[in-house]
Amino acid sequence: MHIIHITAEMAPIAKVGGLGDVVTGLARACLSRGHTVDIMLPFYECIQKQEISDLALITTYNSYHDGNWVATNAYHGVVSSIPVIFIEPSNQFFKGKNVYGGSYNELEAYLFFSRACLEWMQVTGVQPDIIHVHEWQIGALPLLYWDMYQSLSLKKPRIVLTIHNMEHYGECRQEQLSKCGLDGSIYASVEKAIDDRTIGHNPERLSLLKGGIVYSNAVVTVSPTYLKETLCSGWLASVLITHRDKYFGILNGIDTVIWNPATDAFLPAKFHAQKPEGKKICKYYIQKGLGLKSEGTVPLVVCITRLVAQKGLHLITHAIKRAEELGGQMILLGNSPVHWVQKDFEDLANLHNKGTSTRILLMYSEELSHMLYAAADIVLVPSIYEPCGLAQMIGMRYGAVPVVRKTGGLADTVFDVDDPSNHEKANGFVFEGIDEGSLNWALDRAFRHFIDKPEEWNRIVQKVMENDNSWNNAAGKYMEIYNSIRVG
Ligand code: GLC
Repeated sequence: MHIIHITAEMAPIAKVGGLGDVVTGLARACLSRGHTVDIMLPFYECIQKQEISDLALITTYNSYHDGNWVATNAYHGVVSSIPVIFIEPSNQFFKGKNVYGGSYNELEAYLFFSRACLEWMQVTGVQPDIIHVHEWQIGALPLLYWDMYQSLSLKKPRIVLTIHNMEHYGECRQEQLSKCGLDGSIYASVEKAIDDRTIGHNPERLSLLKGGIVYSNAVVTVSPTYLKETLCSGWLASVLITHRDKYFGILNGIDTVIWNPATDAFLPAKFHAQKPEGKKICKYYIQKGLGLKSEGTVPLVVCITRLVAQKGLHLITHAIKRAEELGGQMILLGNSPVHWVQKDFEDLANLHNKGTSTRILLMYSEELSHMLYAAADIVLVPSIYEPCGLAQMIGMRYGAVPVVRKTGGLADTVFDVDDPSNHEKANGFVFEGIDEGSLNWALDRAFRHFIDKPEEWNRIVQKVMENDNSWNNAAGKYMEIYNSIRVG
């Protein structure tokens, strides 16, 4: 089967959050099952070309934008053994220092990109079995395809949309939509087709994701619990209910090649479930390197996250205080795209980083994140909502016991040690409320376990490391969906 992923992110060359990891992990898993897989990505100016092998220009063609034809280059290259097609328009789109936040209109750039990908397929005659689009950025593609390309030569592909985070629904005005050649009236038919209580009915506030849901052959979100949550509340609940029979919840996997403590080149010592000793060295190394007290008997909490509201900022702040109060250590690694949030955490860093129990590191570092997961006794994920969450799964693979809020994918992967109904599955500490007391309840119990019951703790560590969170399972479920909708 031939699958083409169309996405705004791909790890490691254009990654901002979990989306990039998931696209790469899923593509690799399907490739290793013998399928043909390509990823189509904007050729962001910030992409480091030395990370791409065999980069070559394959096509130059014209792509539509706002009444004009834009000369566009399509390159082929290989990233982490995955074939990638890079789309590079000759206008300002995708220029800038970062993946997002350039000085062009982002929404219009992704509308352009969605259409340019279909145009490239048409120009080259490439007809995959499945076009797999991700997130709001590519949300207009199913509608574009349905409107323009099904009647043209591009007849074969079926479309899957994966939604990684419903909060970003791609709000768009009719006038912006028309820049990629979709006139508002077709969108109005989307509106007629579904309950009009949700966002999108107003022509000034259309939702790209909503159109994507209506016109895709299958819609997937990234965990079974998040699927249930999105059917109960949120902007898109009623459209999702209407399309419930083609809506699936598939828990993401993690890339077990990139995230493997037995081979990880970033670690001062390697380890795995059968040979866990190296983890102690990793903890010592980080404590020493960051100037924390180097003590194996003190629990070390690690939190690695983008500092955005979804992630439970007040709970992260509180955990720093609580870990100190309980005589433990905590390291936070992350950045915020919001200036005042970043400033608040800088103030917090100035306050806490002087001592020997807390480090607040306001930066993005792939290397440090590997070392921190390896050093951690506890990985903290206190999200307000979390469609899937990768940190708890990566943490577990590196022998860190998760302390999480019970929501979305966190509820599907972490089961409380003190809940007798969990028996076999118990692997961490879970809280439900969004208040500080709720977090204390879980974090305090984790600390007590670590300090008072070391043997039991080691058993939990052993168990979380043996957990299979690879893409194997998820890729199988995606394949079932691909097979159920493909033509011929
Ligand atoms: C988004 C979600 C996160 C999920 C990731 C990959 O970043 O917020 O929960 O793990 O996408 O699907």
